[in-house]
Amino acid sequence: MSLYGYDSADAATNCICDLRSDTLTKPSVGMRQAMMSAPLGDDVYGEDPTVARLEQELAARLGKEAAMFFPTGTQSNLAAVMAHCGRGDEVIVGDRYHLYCDEAAGVSVLAGVSMMPVNTAEDGGLDADGIVAALKVDDPHYPRSRLLSLENSVGGRVVSSDRVKAGIDVARKADLATHLDGARFFNAIIELGCDAPHLAAPFDTISVCLSKGLGAPSGSVLVGPQAMMAQLKRNRKILGGAMRQSGVLAAAGLFALEHHLPQLAQDHVRAASLASALRHTGLGDVSSQTNMVFLTPRAEDHPGLIRHMAEAGIKIGGQSPAIRMVLHRDVDDAALDAAITAFRAFEPGH
Ligand SMILES: Cc1ncc(COP(=O)(O)O)c(C=O)c1O
Repeated sequence: MSLYGYDSADAATNCICDLRSDTLTKPSVGMRQAMMSAPLGDDVYGEDPTVARLEQELAARLGKEAAMFFPTGTQSNLAAVMAHCGRGDEVIVGDRYHLYCDEAAGVSVLAGVSMMPVNTAEDGGLDADGIVAALKVDDPHYPRSRLLSLENSVGGRVVSSDRVKAGIDVARKADLATHLDGARFFNAIIELGCDAPHLAAPFDTISVCLSKGLGAPSGSVLVGPQAMMAQLKRNRKILGGAMRQSGVLAAAGLFALEHHLPQLAQDHVRAASLASALRHTGLGDVSSQTNMVFLTPRAEDHPGLIRHMAEAGIKIGGQSPAIRMVLHRDVDDAALDAAITAFRAFEPGH
């Protein structure tokens, strides 16, 4: 079994429902057609009209001046940190955030920026007191505190606007820049019931992924002030992310915003249904918000449950102790019913 729970050899076989991640979404037929017919140019020359349109669209939706298209969210986060920080500077970040845990320490390895992890609370937010405690005084022994990087949503949970504001306020007081890893930005605004500019407003830069629940094959957009774009373009080049006819990918993003985004809330509804059904099975503790569900079975049932589900054609996360399940546009009601039926059929101890 790999980190993601299954060997790649069996990844495509016998699968009725794949709940491991919303990154597994495949481009819809309409999206593929949009990719086929997109007007293209060389984006390194600044001549790809579809990339330009996507960048303008995201900047406008979030109420910011400008945006830049990146191949991945990891690179978009890294380019942003590089634009905010120099070597020997420090970014304050949640100890369960993707930037800290799951991006191979790129900001340290490639940008010479150290990361100061702060306890991530149950709601996914950082306590303002924790941020204050993490700030360094100006002393040659220490890195310079330069940036606060938040995430929303965090492992499926949304951080309230008040909580975000409290963290931003202490960061601003200390003259820190602010970045949001909004890989699932639109899931967060659906759950919070706010509009995109409201969630984006407190941050200098926001990275939004198109390749999660929005269903594009690749691509993230970094949104921020016009004055940062030249530096970001340089950073993207340094990181090898300057692409040529990337309008084929940007077209997928534009299609996702127009046609897939209006359906994103369905994933949240299905996640709530799955959570409710799981609570009735008594298999273990269940929690759920946005498009994610976490089930913590008894330790002795964990391997058997994953095996049982796999035999029923249902892929679930291999994590332990809590198993993560992510609803996404390639899991329809029939696939969800199949998953629920399989959970109900599990007999602990078998
Ligand atoms: C919260 C968060 N941030 C950033 C990323 C990175 O995105 P990518 O896989 O496009 O590099 C992910 C990917 O899953 C993520 O979940």
